[in-house]
Amino acid sequence: MDIESKLMEALHSNREGYISGAEIADELGITRTAIWKHIEAIRNNGYDIEAVPHLGYRLLKVPDRLIPREIEMGLETEIIGKNIVTYRSCSSTSDIAEEKARSGAEEGTVIFAEYQTKGRGRLGRTWLSEKSMDLLCSVILRPGIHPSSSSILTVSAALSICEMLRHFGLSATIKWPNDVMIKNKKIGGVLTEIKTEADIIDYAVMGIGVNINSEIRKMGPDIRKTATSVFDECGHKADRIEAGRNLLSALDRKYRFIRSKNPGCIIKEYIDYSSTLGNVIDIKVGSAALHGYAQGFDDTGALIIRRDDNSIEKVISGELI
Ligand code: BTN
Repeated sequence: MDIESKLMEALHSNREGYISGAEIADELGITRTAIWKHIEAIRNNGYDIEAVPHLGYRLLKVPDRLIPREIEMGLETEIIGKNIVTYRSCSSTSDIAEEKARSGAEEGTVIFAEYQTKGRGRLGRTWLSEKSMDLLCSVILRPGIHPSSSSILTVSAALSICEMLRHFGLSATIKWPNDVMIKNKKIGGVLTEIKTEADIIDYAVMGIGVNINSEIRKMGPDIRKTATSVFDECGHKADRIEAGRNLLSALDRKYRFIRSKNPGCIIKEYIDYSSTLGNVIDIKVGSAALHGYAQGFDDTGALIIRRDDNSIEKVISGELI
């Protein structure tokens, strides 16, 4: 760990009190002047650090940016988030993740962005987000499963968003296949893109977008009717670093079930969170339409539909009409 990271760790673990310049200099084997220079460098990155003569330094405020080191602090995951990279701006985090995956990046690598110039959603839609307001990330996975089971990845991401939102006191549901909703308004979505090799997923890029601090209620009437954010629901700003950390933790727990070939636990949770099951629905699948009763999910995350003639249809992807 470099000096700055060690200093940050000391500041974080003493937020109620002060860290003494002399003691930390001793501990890190550098001079007090060097400590002061590092503190200045950290301040220049947007951290608010108080310095009191004879007492030392105290961390007052962390900048509202998805700084990898901040997300990693206290992150106890086995696979997801072992390597985190944040871009101030990029076309799409999924473009970056795809490039990295293609050149062999390890699974669990997470790309965050403060802004995307070409954010994309499902079915060729655009995913828009204001700068430094929300959570935009893509995760590289190498699940070693059959391509027809890829829905389970999307499901685990949607469930992880729900779990993350619970930390903010919000209870969300999932509208098939992957829209995370609060009272009929979308707050988050997942776009999983896969690269297959023979009969196996070589890698998957799981793109996740969650509206955190965007004030959607102040936007145009169309979007206001269909979307919401943590800010709009809670009435105050939320900590995006904490949101990112909670999202990755939840994802790690669920992904480990997939890795250990135990998707049943995820499906059980999906059933609890689904707002689609138990309803008579109409789905658009490509140019075709499907009508029936949403009866359940199979182990791959596919929706099981009972049609009016009692025949059973399994649907991996589509859109509720
Ligand atoms: C959807 O509901 O249509 C899926 C939206 C997925 C959006 C995220 S934002 C981060 C990642 N990068 C993208 O371009 N898209 C996904």
